[in-house]
Amino acid sequence: MEEKKAVKIVVSGMRPTGRLHLGNYWGALRNWVELQDKYRCFFFIADWHALTTAEDTVGLRDNTRLLVTDWLTAGLDPEKCVIFRQSDVKEHAELALLMGMMTPISWLLRNPTFKEQLQELYKARYKGQEDKMKKAEGVTRALAEAHGHEGDDMALHSDMATYGFLGYPVLQAADIALYGADYVPVGKDQLPHLELSREIVRRFNRAAGRPLLVEPEPLLTASPMVPGLDGRKMSKSYGNAIELGEDPRSAEAKIKKMFTDPKKIKADDPGHPEGCVVCAFHRIYNPDWKAREEECRAGKVGCGACKKQLAELMAPSLADFRARREPFEKDPALADRLLAAGAEKAKAAAAGLMTAVNSALRIK
Ligand code: TRP
Repeated sequence: MEEKKAVKIVVSGMRPTGRLHLGNYWGALRNWVELQDKYRCFFFIADWHALTTAEDTVGLRDNTRLLVTDWLTAGLDPEKCVIFRQSDVKEHAELALLMGMMTPISWLLRNPTFKEQLQELYKARYKGQEDKMKKAEGVTRALAEAHGHEGDDMALHSDMATYGFLGYPVLQAADIALYGADYVPVGKDQLPHLELSREIVRRFNRAAGRPLLVEPEPLLTASPMVPGLDGRKMSKSYGNAIELGEDPRSAEAKIKKMFTDPKKIKADDPGHPEGCVVCAFHRIYNPDWKAREEECRAGKVGCGACKKQLAELMAPSLADFRARREPFEKDPALADRLLAAGAEKAKAAAAGLMTAVNSALRIK
C-alpha cells in the first residue's frame, strides 16, 4: 500500500543534559556515525523529553547547543543526516497528542522504566535532606489518602510523577513514527520503550484502517564496555568521565587516576586485567591489547607504563575531536544555524506524514 522505500530510515534522539563523554561516544554515537552512511538518518535533540524529568529549564538551551557540538565533534555530518531539535518540529507534539488518545494508561504504568526512574529521581531529589523529605511526604500522604489512594508509594504520589513523565513513551513513539523509521538504534535499557512504540503504532494503524505508520524495529549493536575512571559505569554524575574532546593534558591526568588491579603493586607483580580500567581502555584503543594483557598477567609491564601508552594511543582521536569542535567554539551561533537548517528538512518530512495522519483519522 505504502510505496516501497529504497533506503531504510533510522531515527534516534538524545536528551540535552550536558556534555557527552567517551561512554556516550562508544556506547551510541560512534554507531550513529556509521549509520549515517548506510541509511537515511534523522537524529534529533529531545528537548521536550528533557522536560519530563527536569526540575527547571535553566540550562536547556545551552545544553542543546552543547549536544549539537558534541554530535559534530563525534563525526555526525549534517550533509549526510538530518540533525534537528524536537521542539522545532511541532508535528512531534501533534502526533503525540493523537497517539495519547489511543494509549491506555495501563500500558504506561506497566512500563518498567517509569517506576524505576521515578524512584531514582525521587531519591536523588531528597538526598541528604531527610527532614525536607519527611515534610513533603506528610503532605503527599495526606493528599493521596484524601483522594482515596493508598499513600504508600510516595514517589508515585509526589509532584514529580507528572503526566508528561508518564507519557514519555507516547512522545517517543511519535518521534519515531513521524519519519517512518524502520530502525531505531537504542541501548538495551530502551527496549521496553521501543516495544511500547510498536504497540502504539499498531493501535494507531487499526484506528487509521490501514498500515499508515511504520512499526519500528530496534537496532542493537554490540558496543564496548567503557568504564569510568573508578571502574563504575562512566557517568557525569559520578565525576568519573572523560569528555569528548577533553584536552590532552587533563585526559592524561585522568588516565593516571584510573583504577587498576589493587593486587598489582610493583611493576613486576602479575596483574589481573579483568576489572582493570586501563585494560578496558586498551581493549578499545590498542589493536594489540591481547598481547598487552598477557604481559600484564606475566608481570612484564607496570601500570604506569601501561597508562602512559594508553594516553599516547588515545591522543590522536582526542585531537580529532577537538579539531572538529573548534569551529563551534569560535562561532557560538554555528550550532543554532545548523539546527535551523536541519529543522527545515525535518519539517518537510513531518508535514507530509501529518497530512496523511489527519486524513486517515478523518480529522481533516
Ligand atoms: N529516550 C531517549 C533517551 O533516553 C531519547 C529519545 C526520545 C529517543 N525520543 C526518542 C531515542 C526516539 C530514540 C528514538 O535518551
